[in-house]
Amino acid sequence: MKKLTGLSKIKTAVFISGKGSNLKNLIQFSKTKGCPISINLIVSNTKNAKGLSYSNRYNIKKKIINFKHNKIAEKKILSILRINNINFICLAGFMKILSKNFIKKFNGKIVNIHPSLLPKYKGLNTHERAIDNNEKFSGCTVHYVTSKLDSGKIIMQKKIKIRKKDTPITLAKRIQKKEHLLYPASILKISTNL
Ligand code: GRF
Repeated sequence: MKKLTGLSKIKTAVFISGKGSNLKNLIQFSKTKGCPISINLIVSNTKNAKGLSYSNRYNIKKKIINFKHNKIAEKKILSILRINNINFICLAGFMKILSKNFIKKFNGKIVNIHPSLLPKYKGLNTHERAIDNNEKFSGCTVHYVTSKLDSGKIIMQKKIKIRKKDTPITLAKRIQKKEHLLYPASILKISTNL
């Protein structure tokens, strides 16, 4: 077992595009005793991501990357990650699809949280589709990122019951609460392999 001093923690970047509740939760997790990761960088593809405010609040470096040209954007990110010695990436509501080339450079070191019980409901509008299909259960999944959207090896999942009265909004709220437990638990599960 690695000894976890501030220096030997796994330097982590969190990629976001929006609210950043998972980012906030991961930051808080990173400050808990014995946590194997430290959050050293926040990357967003838009300056409008509300989650960017956690950069100031927690004194974490942030980078906003324009994705007008994917190749250029990824090249920039790779260089920023290198400069900051980042060796683990958590996607948390990041709305851009990373290229094969990018993923290869961080093989096995990029994870994502998705609001469905994968392999069901890859992509967007997961809650709406689950309700429309009269699913009895939904949930969230943390998985490794590969070049196929939402298809990498599953690390952990949490299942919840869909209620008759659920709307996509109420279901999303309940699932997010579970996400905030699942993401840290998944990181703990894989941390010895990182
Ligand atoms: C989460 O529901 C996550 O599962 C999905 O995007 C959402 C991000 O929410 N990939 P937040 O920005 O972390 O609040």
